[in-house]
Amino acid sequence: MWLLTALLLWVLAGAQAADLTKAVITLQPPWVSVFQEENITLWCEGPHLPGNSSTRWFLNGTAFQTLTPRYRIAAASVSDTGEYRCQTGLSVPSDPVRLEIHRDWLLLQVQSRVFTEGEPLTLRCHGWKNKPVYNVVFYQNDKAFKFSPQNSEFTILKTSLSHNGIYHCSGMGRHRYTSPGVYTVKELFLAPVLKASLSLPLLEGHLVNLSCETKLLLQRPGLQ
Ligand SMILES: *[C@@H]1O[C@H](CO)[C@@H](O)[C@H](O)[C@H]1NC(C)=O
Ligand SMILES: *[C@@H]1O[C@H](CO)[C@@H](O)[C@H](O)[C@H]1NC(C)=O
Ligand SMILES: *[C@@H]1O[C@H](CO)[C@@H](O)[C@H](O)[C@H]1NC(C)=O
Ligand SMILES: *[C@@H]1O[C@H](CO)[C@@H](O)[C@H](O)[C@H]1NC(C)=O
Repeated sequence: MWLLTALLLWVLAGAQAADLTKAVITLQPPWVSVFQEENITLWCEGPHLPGNSSTRWFLNGTAFQTLTPRYRIAAASVSDTGEYRCQTGLSVPSDPVRLEIHRDWLLLQVQSRVFTEGEPLTLRCHGWKNKPVYNVVFYQNDKAFKFSPQNSEFTILKTSLSHNGIYHCSGMGRHRYTSPGVYTVKELFLAPVLKASLSLPLLEGHLVNLSCETKLLLQRPGLQ
């Protein structure tokens, strides 16, 4: 009997967890890689406890701040590199955002290294100390695909599987510089949903099938 009760409690707890929304991190400016000495602000959005906007921030899995929904990095340094997550009072931890701090002449910036098919993908060829960059060439897998004399930003309006790959850019400042590569990949899974095949009211002793449903978007050998 206690086992059934425990199972039921576990199921209820599971159902509750499924109801909790995931917190979401947004960046301002929106790029997941920046130069050293640049400023970047992380915002955490998620449901809060009434009258308590306490937000937990994690860097590489370790909680480092329990305070405001806003975390500002002023004059970024290499030690700010890492995977950030946040959590509000009534949310489960956000998906990680991997922030990279670079020291270079040119940086290819993206808003996310994982894109969803059909959504736009913006590439920005950004110069150190915001120096203007012109005659920009964008490359995918070392193949030039866009020349842009003035504008150092280019948006792929509708992404598809063919947009997977390593991107970099080159551009003129005082000399021609080349950015490091950025690996982007199309999202592999749709967000998983916990499904319980139960009919309410939930009665003790009834069978409940629980399944974690997701959809594999890209075929990969050996992936389960
Ligand atoms: C970062 O913000 C400070 C003010 O807090 C400002 O003085 C500085 O110029 C900013 N740095 C950059 C690279 O924008
Ligand atoms: C977080 O992890 C990344 C990748 O393993 C590492 O490069 C970085 O230095 C770590 N950051 C901190 C603050 O520990
Ligand atoms: C706000 O919630 C956090 C946990 O999310 C708790 O540690 C803290 O004590 C609460 N603060 C107030 C003022 O209730
Ligand atoms: C649970 O799944 C099994 C096997 O798929 C099925 O036979 C059974 O009817 C399901 N039970 C419920 C309550 O949905």
